[in-house]
Formats: sequence, structure tokens, C-alpha cells
Amino acid sequence: MHRSRIIGCGAYLPERIMTNHELARMVETSHEWIVSRTGICQRHIAAEDECTSDLALKAAQAAMDDAGITADDIDLIVLATTTPDQTFPATATQVQAKLNMTRGAAFDVQAVCAGFLYALAIADNFLTAGQAETVLVIGSETYSRILDWQDRRTCILFGDGAGAVMLRRADGNGNSNDRGVLSTHLHSDGRLHDLLYVDGGPSSTQTAGHVRMAGREVFRHAVIKLTEAVEEALEANDLTAKDIDWLVPHQANKRIIDGMARKLGLAPEQVVLTIDRHANTSAASIPLALCEAVRDGRIKPGHLILMEAIGGGLSWGSSLVRW
Ligand code: UT7
Repeated sequence: MHRSRIIGCGAYLPERIMTNHELARMVETSHEWIVSRTGICQRHIAAEDECTSDLALKAAQAAMDDAGITADDIDLIVLATTTPDQTFPATATQVQAKLNMTRGAAFDVQAVCAGFLYALAIADNFLTAGQAETVLVIGSETYSRILDWQDRRTCILFGDGAGAVMLRRADGNGNSNDRGVLSTHLHSDGRLHDLLYVDGGPSSTQTAGHVRMAGREVFRHAVIKLTEAVEEALEANDLTAKDIDWLVPHQANKRIIDGMARKLGLAPEQVVLTIDRHANTSAASIPLALCEAVRDGRIKPGHLILMEAIGGGLSWGSSLVRW
């Protein structure tokens, strides 16, 4: 049986850092409020001339270097983003062009903060179905462009950044000891649209719009739905929480992440946290966190990694990966 193995990862964060203190001079908030409610201390903000594809390109190049892969080796680019450079074409095709990649296919996936898991699931299906050999999965966002900087309920939460993983088809035995993607589980419920959305778009207002969120309600759904998705992933692989080495969660709120770790009986040291420095980078948050923990040597070959995310839609999911 085929498995999708992650053979490299890369990350990129824009140079400019915006602290909570800086935000407190723009809206009625405080560093203390933001840290205690979310765990966020700062976020990175893209430069005026930096687009989602520029961030994605840098993360992609780092992942390619890490994997020892050239553009000619890549069959497919799947890019998760909610903040594309343009309405069309897909930002993934911009990355494809910037990489001088002249073969294969490239497209975007829109599943907001769950975008990376959706992109990973698509890539995994292409690879295990034998339709691709090597796939580049990217999560890249410039949320700063769709924030209402007057709205303290949302503008304090998000940041810009990109992360990427290189996947390659490998052989496996079909059990949970295989190295690679063991499972992906995706869900959405469009009836919950009004809890988290952007109040604009090409077909409705012909503007890009701004993020709107009923934070407390999203929080409530996050706790319930992420727990279910994690249970589903463990059950599907005949594993228990005790088997997990690392939780690499979507970084939306430290309180949600801490709650999940407690429920799973994981020690705080087993949770990869970047929210303090990156804030919520939507589709980029999981690959950014993953890459950090791989680079600093925490994640080692054979380790079992649990990923989970929820965002607008609502859309959510989970994945188990044996590194
Ligand atoms: O990535 C996509 C998924 N997103 C999430 O998972 C986000 C889930 N939600 C959350 O993380 C939290 O709900 C928030 C961090 C967004 C908000 O935290 P909260 O503890 O749920 O606060 P709240 O919305 O219940 O607001 C509590 C109070 C309110 O004042 P009143 O009505 O009690 O007087 C808000 O107006 O805090 C006020 N408030 C603020 N105060 C200072 C809201 N935002 C701020 C702020 N600074 N930035």
C-alpha cells in the first residue's frame, strides 16, 4: 500500500512584527487582555509589496531545499489560503510560475483555518491513488489585508505567514507504524456560516471585505468539534491518546489548545505552540508550527503527530502523521 511521506518542510514569516502594545495604541485593548484571553503576544505583518504568493514561495523554497527536491520533480501544488493574491487565477499558479515549474498542476483550496488539513487530505489522496509522485502543500496567508483594524474583537487575533510541506509517495504496510500520513478526517457545516465569515467578495459586494466573528460561539463549537475529530482520527487508526507524541494544533486560542491537551492527557511539553509569536495565521498555522518543531529537533522520525483545526464555514478536521 502507498503512503504519503513528508520529506521536507519550510516556513516563512514577514519581517515586521506588531506587538500587542502597538495594537493597544490603535484600538481599546491591552497586552494583558490579549495574552490572558488568547495567548498571543505579537504577530508578523506582510510588507505592502508582499503578497500571499511571495510568502508561499519562500516557504515552498525552504521545503524544497529541506527535501532536496527541484521544481522539475513536483507534480502538484496544493495551496491553502483565504487571502489569495487575486480572485483568479489561483495563487498556487503564481507560486508555480515563480518556481519556474513548467509541468504538473497547481490549484488553491479554500477551507479557511482548516485549509492546511484540507490541502493535506487532497495531496494524500492524489499520492495514494497513484496520480502524483511528489506534491507540495502550502498554507499561506496575509490576513492583515482582510482585518477591520477598528474592530478589537478580531484585529488582535490574526497574523501573516506561510508554511509548506513536501510529500512523496512511499510504500507502507497499511498499519499505524507506517511513516507518513496515517489519516485525514474533514468536516464542514455551512449552516454555521454567520459565526465566522468575511463580509465581502467578488460576487456579493465586489470588495475584499473584512473578517467578522462571533468569538464566543466559535470557541464553543471549536471545543466540541475538535474533540470529536480527534477521537475519530485515533479510532480510525486503532490508537489512543497515549500513543501521541506531539499535538500540532491550529493556533487560534491557547485556551482551546490547552483544553485539548488536558483532555488527551498530554503534558504541556508535548504541545507545539507558536500562537504567542505568530498569532492565528489561519491555513499557515499548522505547517509553521510543524516546521518549527522539526527544525529544533523536537519531532523525530517515528513520532506520532496529531493535527487538528477549525475555521470559517465552519470547516474542521484532524490528521495523524507518523514522522
Ligand atoms: O481560527 C478560527 C477559529 N477561531 C477561533 O477558534 C476563535 C475562538 N474564539 C476565541 O478565541 C475567543 O472567543 C476570543 C479570543 C475571540 C474572545 O475571547 P472571549 O473570552 O470569548 O471574550 P468575549 O468575546 O466573550 O468578550 C469578553 C469581553 C467583552 O466585553 P463585555 O461584553 O463582557 O463587556 C468584549 O467586548 O471582552 C471584550 N473584548 C475585548 N476587550 C479588550 C473583546 N475583544 C477585546 C479586546 N480587548 N481586544
